[in-house]
Amino acid sequence: MAKPLLAGNWKMHGTAKSAAELASQLAGYAGEKPEIMVFPSFVSIPAVVNALSEHKDIAIGAQNVSHYSEGAYTGEISGKMLTGIGCSHVLVGHSERRTNNAEGNTLVAEKFAAAQQSGLIPILCVGETLQQRQDSLQLQVIKAQITAVIEKVGLQNVCNAIIAYEPVWAVGTGETATPEQAQQVHGFIRAELGEHGKDTQLLYGGSINADNAASLFSQPDIDGGLVGGASLEAEHFMNIAQQLIERK
Ligand code: PGA
Repeated sequence: MAKPLLAGNWKMHGTAKSAAELASQLAGYAGEKPEIMVFPSFVSIPAVVNALSEHKDIAIGAQNVSHYSEGAYTGEISGKMLTGIGCSHVLVGHSERRTNNAEGNTLVAEKFAAAQQSGLIPILCVGETLQQRQDSLQLQVIKAQITAVIEKVGLQNVCNAIIAYEPVWAVGTGETATPEQAQQVHGFIRAELGEHGKDTQLLYGGSINADNAASLFSQPDIDGGLVGGASLEAEHFMNIAQQLIERK
């Protein structure tokens, strides 16, 4: 069974100072924790690395990475730059980037490949829109999103990464997939990965909070969560982390 993991996506919130404070608060929680990971904005990463310098049990990732390794790409950030400042992970294909920045499956696959080549562990985000769910296309959409990456890097490399199922209609909306809806997709992804995907961490994301976390985490193929809004407050996030550790 995959190890429990809770990731906080801080999106474009706060400042370097407030990000460092939040990181210090998380580090202050004693006791048993699942694997914890935080995704501050690019410019807040050094402050968070500094705040967590004595807390290596909290991993730090970026929210995006260039698909290029180096060169004349104004405004882009390479994987090597991220590992160079202490990142171990990166989000790839988050629905907000797919929607707001026109990132399609091909570009997402290229970013995934670039991330792994530079030594980062990608969290590949997949998920269907409301319209696609209403048309019962969710499994087809998710299959296409994952297949594009498998075709680029091979199945084993996808199994070595982390996958987050985040239905677009649940991200930042306050609406959550039911545990059964989430498990259907997670079970499908697990089956698509086959034999080598048994230990691949599959996260659910989309309006997770302290009230709905336990029922989602009770599902057999949900290994943890990718939390947005509820990750911005240390106590709320750690409450969710506790529920992951105590899941039934
Ligand atoms: P949310 O965001 O928890 O605020 O819905 C999740 C995400 O975007 O990863």
